[in-house]
Amino acid sequence: MKNITMIQYFSIIQALCRSALANPNDAILHQVKRLVEKLEKDGYSKEAKSLEGILSSSNSSAEMSPSKIQRSFLVRSGEEISRKTPIPVDKETATPLAEIFFPDNLPQEEPLFDQNIELAIQSVISEWNGFDQLLEIDASPASSCLIYGPPGTGKTHLAKWIAKQIGLPVVLARLEGLMSSYLGTTSRNIGNLFTFANRYRCVLLLDEFDAIAKLRNDPQEVGEVKRVVNTLLQCLDSRKENGFTIGVTNHETLLDPAIWRRFDIQIEIPRPSPEVMIHLLKKFVAPLDFDDNEIKFLAWCLEGSSGADAEMLAKWLKRFFVLHKKDNYVDMMKQFILLNSGRVDSHKRNVMLHNVDEFISMLLNDKTYSFKQKDIAPLFGMTASSLSKQLAKYKDPEKI
Ligand SMILES: Nc1ncnc2c1ncn2[C@@H]1O[C@H](COP(=O)(O)OP(=O)(O)OP(=O)(O)O)[C@@H](O)[C@H]1O
Ligand SMILES: [Mg+2]
Repeated sequence: MKNITMIQYFSIIQALCRSALANPNDAILHQVKRLVEKLEKDGYSKEAKSLEGILSSSNSSAEMSPSKIQRSFLVRSGEEISRKTPIPVDKETATPLAEIFFPDNLPQEEPLFDQNIELAIQSVISEWNGFDQLLEIDASPASSCLIYGPPGTGKTHLAKWIAKQIGLPVVLARLEGLMSSYLGTTSRNIGNLFTFANRYRCVLLLDEFDAIAKLRNDPQEVGEVKRVVNTLLQCLDSRKENGFTIGVTNHETLLDPAIWRRFDIQIEIPRPSPEVMIHLLKKFVAPLDFDDNEIKFLAWCLEGSSGADAEMLAKWLKRFFVLHKKDNYVDMMKQFILLNSGRVDSHKRNVMLHNVDEFISMLLNDKTYSFKQKDIAPLFGMTASSLSKQLAKYKDPEKI
């Protein structure tokens, strides 16, 4: 067997370093310095000296506009975050400015959305996973994405899942944590956070991104807000060449238009459609066994609610079934409604609680769900014929 050592390839390594240092940036300088140190330590002093020479002759302060090739180095050659990496903190309060999620702590499960949204998300992920092919044609993936929509629709889950698919850890900034009452400190915190994220290979996640915009409502804070927004704009620009940034907000209208424009991609996540709600409920109620009509009925009750509401209902059902017998779904949902009045449309709630005949007729007339009498009778604990008789009386009270 040949005894090959790395040093046999040193001339290639030398050439690589020379070409990389022709367009130097911090990450390249850092890596070459590391290589020099390692060579020195392992007794390859001649080689270490040679690289040191290349290093010192490279003009590290050369200001060159970044080519796409240089970008690839920046995005790819950032340092790896480890569990020991110190996280920047607010200098006054020592509160960490970010939380790190490593890929094994990111969601495994793909969030469920309408097909169009899923396709849009897949295209973002495949751009990052096809990074090298894009570089060959002098293109680079979209470097920032704004995810917005109503509360509880799975936006944070989606952002983390995207990072998982790209295979990078998440640096999660809670902007509320970055805010400081000391003048100028918020801007400094934002600057420090971006410097940290730009140094490492990661997805920077700015969750609850509207927190900055909220400051605007305070007339005392006008100067400070301008400063913070300007810092954020500069930081978002500086990050473009350094990695992927995802912003998440429920209040997209509160965002400064200049910040809004900084995001290459903007994805709106709406409340789930009936079809998606059915899928979500099926997923969340597992391992409980519900048939299609039962799930459809739960989805009907939750129409217009969020995925988080579906998850909440599923958890409640699991607790309910441990303590009660599963027989009458309508009575069970009435209990849920009484305990979760904000989660169900108020008209549906009133009818469900106070007028059983109108409730049955509402279900049967709903064109989206197209329930049949035989489908819903068991939900009310009735046979199809007794439900039919009840309906006949409702439509023609003379028959009573
Ligand atoms: N479309 C969905 N697919 C899968 N899970 C979902 C979906 N929508 C909501 N969830 C679940 O609901 C819970 C809340 O989701 P998440 O925190 O991501 O929502 P959000 O949109 O970020 O909410 P908020 O705006 O309140 O921060 C999570 O457990 C998530 O898994
Ligand atoms: Mg969220």
